Amino acid sequence: PKQRTTARCSLRPDYIPNHIPDPSYVRIFDTTLRDGEQSPGATMTSPEKLAIARQLSRLGVDVIEAGFPASSPDDLEAVRSIALEVGNRPEEEGGHVPVICGLARCNARDIDRAWEAVRGARNPRVHVFIATSDIHLEHKLKMSRDEVARIAREMVAYLRNLGCQDIEFSPEDAGRSDRRFLYPLLEEVILAGATTLNIPDTVGYTLPSEFGQLIADIKANTRGIENAIISTHCQNDLGLATANTLAGAYAGARQLEVTVNGIGERAGNASLEEVVMAIKYRKEQIGGLYTGINTKHISMSSKMVTEYTGLVIQPHKAIVGANAFAHESGIHQDGMLKFKGTYEIMSPDDIGLSRSNESGIVLGKLSGRHALRSKLSELGYYIDGKELDDVFKRFKEVAEKKKRVSDDDIEALISNEIFQP
Ligand code: KIV
Repeated sequence: PKQRTTARCSLRPDYIPNHIPDPSYVRIFDTTLRDGEQSPGATMTSPEKLAIARQLSRLGVDVIEAGFPASSPDDLEAVRSIALEVGNRPEEEGGHVPVICGLARCNARDIDRAWEAVRGARNPRVHVFIATSDIHLEHKLKMSRDEVARIAREMVAYLRNLGCQDIEFSPEDAGRSDRRFLYPLLEEVILAGATTLNIPDTVGYTLPSEFGQLIADIKANTRGIENAIISTHCQNDLGLATANTLAGAYAGARQLEVTVNGIGERAGNASLEEVVMAIKYRKEQIGGLYTGINTKHISMSSKMVTEYTGLVIQPHKAIVGANAFAHESGIHQDGMLKFKGTYEIMSPDDIGLSRSNESGIVLGKLSGRHALRSKLSELGYYIDGKELDDVFKRFKEVAEKKKRVSDDDIEALISNEIFQP
């Protein structure tokens, strides 16, 4: 797709690890290129990943998780090239300088590769994870809690010794982990050098009230947490990823992990556009929080991700679906023609979407006379009274047979061949 650029160049002060900026500022950590790429069938080439990373920088995300370097030499190279270009000089492309992050399991081989891939960025980060729920310890890792705690502590310290100052740690499956194990483990990794503590609801199991409480409890019970940023990472297995993410932010998380279009493992992740627009439009209700996202780039980012991953979004997807700003029923169309606020809580313009017709009206069998008259005048036909009644009757006949009545159908309807006044 065609690229749009702005002259927005900045290096935000909060990129300095451990620097606590405005407490109301929420960092957006985009993992489209890592967790998003884990969606079945979503593999991207290195040039595609680089193009998306450039777009994410224009969008204004704070952190780009560019990949999982130990997973393949190709991914390592993709992350390295993103770190070198987007992590250093995206001003030339009209973006800003985000943190570039690589994922690693808690072992030296993964960590070496992740550090090698990101270290060329101006602000590099490595994100290490190990599972902490009993179900994962018993069936997947086959380790005791003590072993997991030791490995987590040692691997964070190992990463710190390599020279990495910005370290994110995730206790995988935190949503189902025993807090009596979780709090002390988090304390240990903070002491070892972790600067961001990401709390994943790995299987999308928690309810918003539970996830919000988990974040609040971690904040209240983990010693040293004031020196770190709490982050959320919510999967969408029960369709609650966005709600859980917002509950986490309300409870004190100041980094939110999201993907464009909500792509990701299984049912996906919290979607960037939903989380960002909810924070923007319900700012007061969510404690005055705000993000640094330039929402005008949302529509283009969504289109690029659809094109490069081949993952088509459903028409009714919130914010970026084809129907998100379309109105078909007669009552809604009438309301829209009178005042847009009747049925639109945000403007498509705000996500950089220009719609072909001002009111977003889509003609179909549920549309009324008012909507038809408005469409006709948009097309240059000013008719009323009996003439309009006749066209409306014919329009209803066509609409019964077609899902949507296009501008061409209307033109045909009113032309002399079809419409004989
Ligand atoms: O879902 C998950 O737990 C993850 C972690 C690596 C953060 O993707």
